[in-house]
Amino acid sequence: MGELIRFGVSIDEQLLDCFDKLIEQKHYQTRSEAIRDLIRATLVETRSANDDAEMVGTVTLVYDHHVRELSEKLTEQQHAHSTKIISALHVHLDAHKCLEVLVVRGKTSEVKQIADQLIGVKGVKHGKLVITSADEGLHDHSEDSGSHHH
Ligand code: NI
Repeated sequence: MGELIRFGVSIDEQLLDCFDKLIEQKHYQTRSEAIRDLIRATLVETRSANDDAEMVGTVTLVYDHHVRELSEKLTEQQHAHSTKIISALHVHLDAHKCLEVLVVRGKTSEVKQIADQLIGVKGVKHGKLVITSADEGLHDHSEDSGSHHH
């Protein structure tokens, strides 16, 4: 959490034009906010390539709870990793399908391994891991003073 620094960027006119269109599409208020998010996204991506970095992941699973022993297998996995899986949300989508979102905290390698084990359980129709970082270095002053929603 450092001081707010201003710096100039030289950029090709056409590239900036494309960037401004993207900013509008994504509903950014300013170019600065868009650039900060791009930098953070790249940092998180780079960090998540490091197996030992401390990360937080959400694992989304969609499955049919009628499949034999599937719910039990998923629950077993969650108990086996109870210190790493810090939260779980279960939604009954319809008569058959369940949606589960699990929050996993640990080293990148652990988060990925737990996600793979869950997604790999036979009968899981769709599974996806989204990985992010709670690292302090990614958060800056400009957000604290603004009307940014967390
Ligand atoms: Ni359900």
